[in-house]
Amino acid sequence: MNKIVFATNNAHKLQELREIVGEKFTILSLNDIDCHDDIPETCPTIEGNAEQKARFIKDNYGYDCFSDDTCLEIDALGGEPGVYSARYAAAGHDSEANMRKVLDKMQGVPMEKRTARFRTAVALILNGELHIFDGRVEGHILTEKHGDSGFGYDPIFQPDEADGRTFAQMNADEKNAISHRGRAVKKLVEFLCK
Ligand code: IMP
Repeated sequence: MNKIVFATNNAHKLQELREIVGEKFTILSLNDIDCHDDIPETCPTIEGNAEQKARFIKDNYGYDCFSDDTCLEIDALGGEPGVYSARYAAAGHDSEANMRKVLDKMQGVPMEKRTARFRTAVALILNGELHIFDGRVEGHILTEKHGDSGFGYDPIFQPDEADGRTFAQMNADEKNAISHRGRAVKKLVEFLCK
């Protein structure tokens, strides 16, 4: 069977992908190939970072590979946090601090100007060729947190095409059906399984 690496150790993302892809590919994690490197993500765009991670695995471990990278773009903040979404407030992944920084910087911004979007890029290197798949979801940044599911900025992001709930007020299936990552991954899976 074809082996392909998903450049992540996120158990939730892996499980989801393995279920969707089925028998056609064996999806390996970074742990599965004994990769414990600090993979560089030094590009100014999510597309560049996703490609950089996938190429790192191909070049150093020889496997075909795909990798995802996501950003939140807030119009009133000139596109911030952008590629710095994970470490907006400080190094590391402190979601509470990141959301606090966003809410502080947006104090006084009226709802019609609180537009934002999540964007995901998935980079696949298969048989020596690069393929990029994208996904996005438009929404608004609320003035306070609502809900406690999900992760990251979910409690302050209200997708426009839902019923007024934030991502953190949805279950995983509801979120995946309209989310940036769900949409990019759907394109990847359609390509791999066609
Ligand atoms: P990553 O590229 O998937 O690691 O995402 C970078 C950062 O964007 C994460 O650390 C989160 O802060 C944020 N993020 C990514 N996806 C989501 C999401 O689905 N909901 C909320 N925040 C997210």
